[in-house]
Amino acid sequence: MRVFVVGASGAIGTRLVPQLIDRGHEVIGTSRSPESAKRVRALGARPVLLDLLDPDAVRKAVLAAEPEAVIHEATALSDLSDFKHFDRTFHQTSRLRTEGTDALLGAAREAGVRRFVAQSYASARYSRDGAPVKSEDDPLDPAPAPNAREAFAAMRHLDEAVTKAGGVALRYGAFYGASNDGLPDPVRKRQFPIIGDGGGVTSFIHLHDAAAATVLALERGEPGIYNIVDDEPAPAREWLPVLAEVLGAKPPRRVPRWLARVLAGEFVVVMGTESRGASNAKAKRELGWELRYPSWREGFRAAYAATAPAERREPDPAARAVKGEAG
Ligand SMILES: NC(=O)c1ccc[n+]([C@@H]2O[C@H](COP(=O)([O-])OP(=O)(O)OC[C@H]3O[C@@H](n4cnc5c(N)ncnc54)[C@H](OP(=O)(O)O)[C@@H]3O)[C@@H](O)[C@H]2O)c1
Repeated sequence: MRVFVVGASGAIGTRLVPQLIDRGHEVIGTSRSPESAKRVRALGARPVLLDLLDPDAVRKAVLAAEPEAVIHEATALSDLSDFKHFDRTFHQTSRLRTEGTDALLGAAREAGVRRFVAQSYASARYSRDGAPVKSEDDPLDPAPAPNAREAFAAMRHLDEAVTKAGGVALRYGAFYGASNDGLPDPVRKRQFPIIGDGGGVTSFIHLHDAAAATVLALERGEPGIYNIVDDEPAPAREWLPVLAEVLGAKPPRRVPRWLARVLAGEFVVVMGTESRGASNAKAKRELGWELRYPSWREGFRAAYAATAPAERREPDPAARAVKGEAG
């Protein structure tokens, strides 16, 4: 297929473009700067400069490209340091998910595009009661944290607009697997604590696996929602100490809910204590998706172990086995 990828230069886009090309697709990839366009070209795609928040430009670019499919992977989350003002931090991304999605859907319709796939989010979206892990059919949180209402409304808009138009919305887990991920640094600095009982569940996904699922969703996804997450949704009290160990950092601090609320705002408290994870059963069953990193346990090691200070690095499992320490 000729595929128009918006956000081809981003964290997921740069993994997606080569996998699309490997599968024989032709890719037109957007970015906003000539430097990013060079990266897109180097990945094997035809670069196009595009601001998704300029509807006229979107229309022209899509019509000129004559694609059979459109994939929307544009976000603007390069500075995730302020979660206290969550909606402010996410404002540009929320616009990309509302205005950007609408502009793309309109252009895609006019261009006779057959397939439309867009980036949504799974972790912390589902209702904060009942089972710890939810499927696509379970209700979303009806009352998101007040400081994250705009961002959650934008995700809901994207899900609804895309599926109503016959497209596929991919509710990805929390991405990891790139050198510039936002997660390791605060964990290394012990700025990412376990809040309260640490019971808030997160679903993760390695960027490689997220890209692989996206290719499959493009090729065989039915209109609707798919959770694109790994096999092991886990509470913060489980995954955070493991990540700290992999990074060679000290164990995470523990803070009470009230203090976390003062320091980091309500959304962070909800995420750390109440949020639910997501099930990938539908994506595996319907897309035939197989994960390279079925759990963050091996994924974190693959992504980050080499970044730990040498003196704190875990011994190589093979060396431990030789010494009779393993298994
Ligand atoms: N599910 C998740 O956990 C999740 C979701 C999204 C992002 N993140 C993480 O957040 C971090 C930062 O991500 P990011 O979103 O800042 O950057 P990113 O993933 O590196 O890039 C986002 C993509 O969107 C494009 N883009 C941004 N604004 C646009 C606009 N107005 N019009 C058209 N395209 C636009 C960017 O183009 P340019 O390259 O030209 O700027 C880029 O191609 C990454 O570590 C990423 O993994 C996580």
